[in-house]
Amino acid sequence: MRCLIIYKSVHHGNTEKIAEVMAEALNADIKKVEEVGKEEMQEYDIIGMGSGIFFGKHHRSLLEFVDSLPPMDEKRAFIFSTRGGTPTWLNHRALRKRLRKKGFRIIGEFSCKGYDTFGILKYIGGINKGRPDEKDMDKARKFARKISKIRGC
Ligand SMILES: Cc1cc2nc3c(=O)[nH]c(=O)nc-3n(C[C@H](O)[C@H](O)[C@H](O)COP(=O)(O)O)c2cc1C
Repeated sequence: MRCLIIYKSVHHGNTEKIAEVMAEALNADIKKVEEVGKEEMQEYDIIGMGSGIFFGKHHRSLLEFVDSLPPMDEKRAFIFSTRGGTPTWLNHRALRKRLRKKGFRIIGEFSCKGYDTFGILKYIGGINKGRPDEKDMDKARKFARKISKIRGC
């Protein structure tokens, strides 16, 4: 099984921490979204994609990357994110919809809180200070191990 993790982490590097932990647990290659060539996708059996959440969605670069892909014919994918506080069912909706439209089969989703200093939050020192923390990383590791056990991967 070959696995690739694609991520974008721009606010505080929160999602990068999660992406790295998952990559280690899955023995996956890991790349920032701008480093991935569309043709490379065919070399992998599972693709994980994640970023922080911005106005209720994944980072625009990730959404646009998925839009630019050719049909994926049931390739397995999982979604991850870090967030300030809005709910995951809402935050993952846009990426999930785009992945499905391209023919990906979604085999799991993971999200945890991340340090957030957007807008007026910076005047109070931000929210979710220290997140993702060790507990979050451990949950991410466990999630990745479950993904690696999926039959046929
Ligand atoms: C411009 C902006 C908009 C954001 N919008 C949301 C949002 O709608 N919902 C949410 O839960 N968090 C929101 N956040 C918080 C980020 O999703 C959170 O800090 C995330 O962990 C950032 O990940 P990163 O450090 O990997 O970029 C926003 C942050 C910024 C800077």
